[in-house]
Amino acid sequence: MPLAECIGVEKTYGSGAAAVHALRGVDLSIEAGEYVAIMGASGSGKSTLLHIMGGIDVPTAGQALVDGQDVSTLDATQAALFRRRKVGIVYQFFNLVPTTTVKRNILMPLLLDRREVDPRFFTEIVEALGLASRLDAMPSELSGGQQQRVAIARALIYRPMLLLADEPTGNLDQRTSREIIDLLKLAHRSFHQTTVIVTHDEAVALKADRVIVMEDGRLISDESRR
Ligand SMILES: Nc1ncnc2c1ncn2[C@@H]1O[C@H](COP(=O)(O)OP(=O)(O)OP(=O)(O)O)[C@@H](O)[C@H]1O
Ligand SMILES: [Mg+2]
Repeated sequence: MPLAECIGVEKTYGSGAAAVHALRGVDLSIEAGEYVAIMGASGSGKSTLLHIMGGIDVPTAGQALVDGQDVSTLDATQAALFRRRKVGIVYQFFNLVPTTTVKRNILMPLLLDRREVDPRFFTEIVEALGLASRLDAMPSELSGGQQQRVAIARALIYRPMLLLADEPTGNLDQRTSREIIDLLKLAHRSFHQTTVIVTHDEAVALKADRVIVMEDGRLISDESRR
């Protein structure tokens, strides 16, 4: 069974003359352990597809399955739990909670669920991401690259089955971007983290196992690189 599957997924925003067909029938299957890059022009539907797989948005038609569960049939509470427990999402603009420390930001998904923290896993993540000395800092005291590493740590802390990253390096300089990509690859190697990353950067896509290209709401190419 694939870990994530889209079957005939369509997404239309608005209606009538103002309707925007963001996705026009996407079929996609992602196996556990894959590292997939999604490329495509602005407006081709990349973020929409990611949001549907992440339970943030629902398809207008078709099915999005994660771990065999149809994400679009979840009610609001179930969708919130799905997002917190089964997927990790990393955005271009880090989306950290500005009023609390790095440590609490990383632990936020567990705190919200009143879950125990696995101290060994926490330490492993924090050390891998080079955040050990910054745990008591506030997000505003960090560089952009450090903030993105906090967002990645937060996305990984629940050991999500699927990590979704939407242009995670879009707001970072070249060197920091490379570091962030290396860290995502490290998570993929060390934790066998299934990862889908949207990127405009050819160099980032070249490091993926599989590259999907979207155009006008459709997949126009899907190439396995190993
Ligand atoms: N909430 C929304 N309401 C209306 N239209 C939307 C909404 N979100 C996205 N769209 C439209 O859907 C289409 C696909 O948008 P999407 O954000 O998925 O593109 P993208 O490939 O991620 O682009 P970019 O590379 O610029 O981030 C675009 O035409 C966009 O204007
Ligand atoms: Mg986008």
